[in-house]
Amino acid sequence: MRKAYINACKIVKSIMLTFMLGVSGAYAQGPAAVYLDDTKPINERVEDALQRMTLKEKIAFIHAQSKFSSPGVARLGIPENWTTDGPHGIRPEVLWDEWSQAGWTNDSCTAFPALTCLAATWNKDMSLLYGKSLGEEARYRNKNILLGPGINIYRSPLNGRNFEYMGEDPFLSSKMVVPYIKGVQQNGVATCVKHFALNNQETNRHGVNVVVDDRALYEIYLPAFKAAVQEGDTWSIMGSYNLYKGQHCCHNQYLLNDILRKEWGFKGVVVSDWGGVHDTRQAIFNGLDLEFGSWTNGLTEGKSSAYDAYYLADPYLKLIKSGEVGTKELDEKVRRVLRLSFLTTMNRNRPTGSFATEEHALAARKIAQEGIVLLKNKGNVLPINLSKTKTIAVIGENAIKMMTVGGGSSSLKAKYEISPLEGIRNRVGNEATVIYARGYVGDTTGNYNGVATGQNLAEKRSSAELLAEAIELAKKADVVIFFGGLNKSDKQDAEGYDRESLGLPYNQDQLLTELAKVNKNLVMVNISGNAVAMPWVNQVPAIVQGWFLGSEAGNALASVLVGDVNPSGKLTFTFPVKLTDNGAHAAGEFPGKDEVHYKEGIFVGYRWADKHKIKPLFAFGHGLSYTTFQYGKVTADRKSMSASDKITFSVNVKNTGSREGEEVVQLYISDLKSSLPRPVKELKGFEKVSLKPGEQKTVTFTIDKTALSFFDDAKHEWVAEPGDFEALIGASSADVRTKASFKLN
Ligand code: BGC
Repeated sequence: MRKAYINACKIVKSIMLTFMLGVSGAYAQGPAAVYLDDTKPINERVEDALQRMTLKEKIAFIHAQSKFSSPGVARLGIPENWTTDGPHGIRPEVLWDEWSQAGWTNDSCTAFPALTCLAATWNKDMSLLYGKSLGEEARYRNKNILLGPGINIYRSPLNGRNFEYMGEDPFLSSKMVVPYIKGVQQNGVATCVKHFALNNQETNRHGVNVVVDDRALYEIYLPAFKAAVQEGDTWSIMGSYNLYKGQHCCHNQYLLNDILRKEWGFKGVVVSDWGGVHDTRQAIFNGLDLEFGSWTNGLTEGKSSAYDAYYLADPYLKLIKSGEVGTKELDEKVRRVLRLSFLTTMNRNRPTGSFATEEHALAARKIAQEGIVLLKNKGNVLPINLSKTKTIAVIGENAIKMMTVGGGSSSLKAKYEISPLEGIRNRVGNEATVIYARGYVGDTTGNYNGVATGQNLAEKRSSAELLAEAIELAKKADVVIFFGGLNKSDKQDAEGYDRESLGLPYNQDQLLTELAKVNKNLVMVNISGNAVAMPWVNQVPAIVQGWFLGSEAGNALASVLVGDVNPSGKLTFTFPVKLTDNGAHAAGEFPGKDEVHYKEGIFVGYRWADKHKIKPLFAFGHGLSYTTFQYGKVTADRKSMSASDKITFSVNVKNTGSREGEEVVQLYISDLKSSLPRPVKELKGFEKVSLKPGEQKTVTFTIDKTALSFFDDAKHEWVAEPGDFEALIGASSADVRTKASFKLN
């Protein structure tokens, strides 16, 4: 009788508790649930959640359950993790286990400019704005892991994914990646910085083994990732597809355990690239936390909903159950993923986000405007003076082709995309007549993963007819703007393949040459994420690097072309005249097949051009303005420094033209004598200054020994060798205006 009474009391008590605390399974754990208490430190919450999880729940927690999500722990009220590409906008929803569209009608996003453009702003505030806006879009769409930014170094102009990255320089990439991360993560959304590491080609991307010396690894390919971890505090990082030292990078002892975790102290989650895992034991022991994939075992096509077959799923569980491996590594992985949950989905105070708003469109436009680079402007053809222009001929497929669809995983479903032709028409209105001819046919398709542009680009006319029409129009016009370059088709600026040559596709070279013959006011706008060859460079007076600019592309381009906005972008990679002017190609080492040797070592980009005294077509850091800037003489606050000192360089920069503009002042350091070979100079500082006509400002750069150091591979440490150095200050890597000598004692 008494026993029955006690049991009844227990039941009533438990019902009351359930009512008092809510019906969620989480609260059934009782009030001692430390993991739910956000006044407690994250570590304690993690430990508490961990010890409540069963073995099965832990295994489920570390691999995908759908194309883009991994399970939480429903019983404990820990939400699923939802990832999204990345890095230029929030990818539209696909089906649970298919790549095809889910057909949502509320997932059309703001398309931000490609990261190449963001980097070309050389403006950290733009990077913060980008990250903040994109993070808001991710948050609104309930994604807690944004698959980006991409920061692989631009080693060759043929890499199909360069447009998703930040250029050839480790210092610039390091400085630009950090604010992006902070902006995204302030929304309670983790960045997943990718692809770690050495993912510099698309050819055989799952199978190529990269052979690189330690100096190039540490000086060129790793610094931006290190900054993302140590300065940006990214909550996750994505392993890359390729191999390094014979191990796939998603489970790579050297990169993940030795460098990322031990040397850099990374506390976040290592996420595999989709299908980048190949081995359960390596995945267990070599630093991977969370496995995502594409098909049956992550990589190969076949079964559907085969997530239990993933390397970190049943095969792992089996090894544990048979006693072949312990649970120490599993707990570590779960801890790290839990930590990410507490920082994102379990953070009750995170903002709610916003999606495809006018504010985001304005941000996208501003970034696009600041990233556009004026490469050449002979005879001041630009800006177009509308009061003196009756007819503008716009020519080229890229004036009308939508670029937000295509290119691989970064493809978007944008709420809208203003094409260059529309942008120009919007801006010019009745002030001049805008006429259009296509000029060439490139890619007439407009569909990626089921997202259709809706554009009908079919063309029946022959290329001779298209050329003739373009020439006729060009003859009639006061100014001709040609929009060409690359597009997002395979073997151009797209994931999965590399480009096959440096030249422009679709006979554009001939078209440009012919146009230049009939109209001297010719402007070439190169829409691309890569350098292209320009055999017509001397015939075309004005050249603009127009990138892939997202939703506001046309408006941003028009504003620069007519001069509402004074261009201030600078190149983040070298445009070589020919392919063999690039180190990787000079060595015949791009693309690699089973193995690729980075024989050029640390001499990537301008470092190669400097070393071999090769004059580039357009140099790293180059970009013109509609005004002019004069640099004064640089001064240093001391003549020599010790390893614990700092040294400050100051230079006056004056706007000597007639309109307001912004200049990116660049500091390069040159080590005059060293025990190991060093680049002629390396970027170690940059500052974007805005100046009114006649105005002058003092720009200062303070550096310490890190700016003087190289990676000594024998000692495996950074070394600043005493001796003579020079601080070179200029407007590009090929345009040094002033220098100062100093000594490290
Ligand atoms: C790409 C990643 C991308 C992932 C998910 C992979 O193929 O390499 O960059 O984030 O797919 O779409």
